[in-house]
Amino acid sequence: MKKIIIINGPNLNLLGQREDDIYGKDTLDEIKNKCEKKGKEQNLEVNFYQSNNEGEIINKIHEASSLYDGIIINPAAFTHSSIAILDSLRAINKPKIEIHLSNIYSREEYRKKSITSEGVNGLICGFGGNSYILGIEAIAKLIYKE
Ligand code: DQA
Repeated sequence: MKKIIIINGPNLNLLGQREDDIYGKDTLDEIKNKCEKKGKEQNLEVNFYQSNNEGEIINKIHEASSLYDGIIINPAAFTHSSIAILDSLRAINKPKIEIHLSNIYSREEYRKKSITSEGVNGLICGFGGNSYILGIEAIAKLIYKE
């Protein structure tokens, strides 16, 4: 079975209690369970990871070159600032999808630019927890070349 890693950036560990009008009521653990179930349906082993630390996220992206067949990433606030995460994504030649719970293009000006999305195949945003599920469907198509 092919393997993917879903990487979650800073503050996403607080999902469910943090600005739930924007990010929904699901906790990250609930989203993780839904992703694992969806992964099985798509013939993908889903590994789930969260860190508040930029360097740890970059190390996880590097691991993907030997351990995983694709990356789904919600870089959270690093989306809008991290050239380092962009460079690490560009270094990995595997299918990559960026996702966001909220529609970053309908929010504050400073969220309308995604630096990290320049290093991925495509971007899904605005569907709440379902952005993760749509991301898994999209990456399955890229990995299995459907
Ligand atoms: C987010 C959007 C980012 O702008 C924000 O900093 C987050 C969450 C989202 O999933 O909607 O932390 O990535």
